[in-house]
Amino acid sequence: MSHKLVIIFVVCLIAIVSSIELDIHINLDPTTNQIAINYNNLLHKYAPNDQVFLGTESIPHITLYLTDFVEEQIPTIQNEVSQIFPLLNQAGKNCLVEMTTIDISAQYGMWTVQNNQCLQYLSDLVVNNTFQYITPNQSIPSWVYSLPEPLRDEKIAMIKKYGSPNVFDQFQPHVTLAWDEIDNLTIAFNEVGVQPTSFYSPSIGIGNTGPYGTVLDNFYGTFNFDNNNKIKKN
Ligand SMILES: *[C@@H]1O[C@H](CO)[C@@H](O)[C@H](O)[C@H]1NC(C)=O
Ligand SMILES: *[C@@H]1O[C@H](CO)[C@@H](O)[C@H](O)[C@H]1NC(C)=O
Ligand SMILES: *[C@@H]1O[C@H](CO)[C@@H](O)[C@H](O)[C@H]1NC(C)=O
Repeated sequence: MSHKLVIIFVVCLIAIVSSIELDIHINLDPTTNQIAINYNNLLHKYAPNDQVFLGTESIPHITLYLTDFVEEQIPTIQNEVSQIFPLLNQAGKNCLVEMTTIDISAQYGMWTVQNNQCLQYLSDLVVNNTFQYITPNQSIPSWVYSLPEPLRDEKIAMIKKYGSPNVFDQFQPHVTLAWDEIDNLTIAFNEVGVQPTSFYSPSIGIGNTGPYGTVLDNFYGTFNFDNNNKIKKN
């Protein structure tokens, strides 16, 4: 009897913790996607230890929500995104995404996206409608403990509730171009000379993640904005 209970308990535990990290993001339009890949390629010349390989191993993207989800809930998550897609489409199809300067933070080299109302809304809406399906009790990354207060407590509270330290007022949209713990990325990016640009995103994707915040694919869905790859008017 007690053995049976133990087995049932273990089976439940495995079911509960069967977890998968997913990235819900907006994709770049074809032109900007290629620009990001080209910058990343060129950067490898000046920062040969960069571990991000856009176009070959991972895809340029702007994360809306990155967390561990309960694997069994993937169909529900896909369905939730479909259900809210009319609202996401409304906000996303006319959302001008402005790419600005490079931000070097710890080992990361990130192409900053100017945050705006439509991007914030896309992230908030996705988080609000999918956080019910995250893996509970996710661990707090060590870098969070080294943050100053009150930021540290705010991020810890966010991780406990949403499984991510980077949502709502901590949402900082960007395209990661590099992760490098050896080369000086400031010097390397000065050589690359990243220029500001802007674009309209063609779609929201749900994909698998790789190391260093990379996204490997749009395996769990591509939800196309009905903007027909709207071309930016200068
Ligand atoms: C997300 O949820 C928060 C808290 O419930 C709410 O204040 C906010 O308006 C919601 N945002 C969106 C875009 O749904
Ligand atoms: C949450 O995780 C911590 C450390 O990983 C563990 O000690 C604790 O028991 C967990 N709590 C629940 C409710 O699972
Ligand atoms: C990288 O190079 C810049 C410019 O020369 C310098 O200011 C900075 O301290 C260097 N960073 C590191 C981590 O060595």
